Amino acid sequence: MSQPWEDKEYVKYTLWFVFACVIYSIIGFSWGALMGGIHEFRHFVDQRMFGKLIVRAHTHINLLGWVEMAIFASVYYIIPRLVKRPIYSLKLVKVHFWTHNFGLIGMVVFFTTAGIVGGMASVTMTPPEVEALVRPWLATMGIFGSIVLLANFIWAYNIFRTCAGWDKS
Ligand code: HEM
Ligand code: HEM
Repeated sequence: MSQPWEDKEYVKYTLWFVFACVIYSIIGFSWGALMGGIHEFRHFVDQRMFGKLIVRAHTHINLLGWVEMAIFASVYYIIPRLVKRPIYSLKLVKVHFWTHNFGLIGMVVFFTTAGIVGGMASVTMTPPEVEALVRPWLATMGIFGSIVLLANFIWAYNIFRTCAGWDKS
């Protein structure tokens, strides 16, 4: 007899977290290797004004992509087995997957864009001008970051509701 946590949709989404983790790790590690290995790239991120924002894209694709995705997949695998009941809401698992990915990709795109725009403009513009130029790009990054935060709350709520009042008999 199949167990409640063996629901095909649930297994599919848990595996999608694993696949996303693998894809983000390949992108994030390659990004680090290129950033460290190509002299001009490293010079840009280290020396140009706001160039460090490109490093932020690397760190967050690794931390929110590779690390967090692996943790999400593991927790989704472990918790229903521990409490011996299905996840509280499969719909919220799906919402979590898509909002986290959407927010993370937006964060990475806008961190990178802000870094490139700021780094290039810093050659010809004054620091206050560069700051004014970068601000809207960073604000947009913040909106996507808030979406990632929302995704984390959705995940936490779903896990909490799955665990709360578990059958101790
Ligand atoms: C093949 C794998 C990786 C390579 C080659 C790599 C390379 C780099 C390089 C070259 C920098 C510095 C950029 C600079 O400031 O000049 C950097 C920064 C950073 N990386 Fe990676 N990285 C890798 C994987 C990871 C992973 C897996 C994580 C986290 C889970 C990570 C987290 C960070 C953080 C937090 C910083 C910023 C440190 C700071 O702000 O001073 N990296 N990485
Ligand atoms: C809602 C999700 C998140 C948002 C919106 C966010 C946003 C930011 C921002 C704006 C910065 C840059 C601060 C600055 O340059 O002054 C930053 C730095 C950093 N964040 Fe996050 N963050 C998030 C999640 C995380 C998570 C989950 C981790 C670790 C597991 C993390 C690790 C770091 C680290 C290590 C730095 C500084 C080093 C670097 O990026 O080079 N962040 N974050």
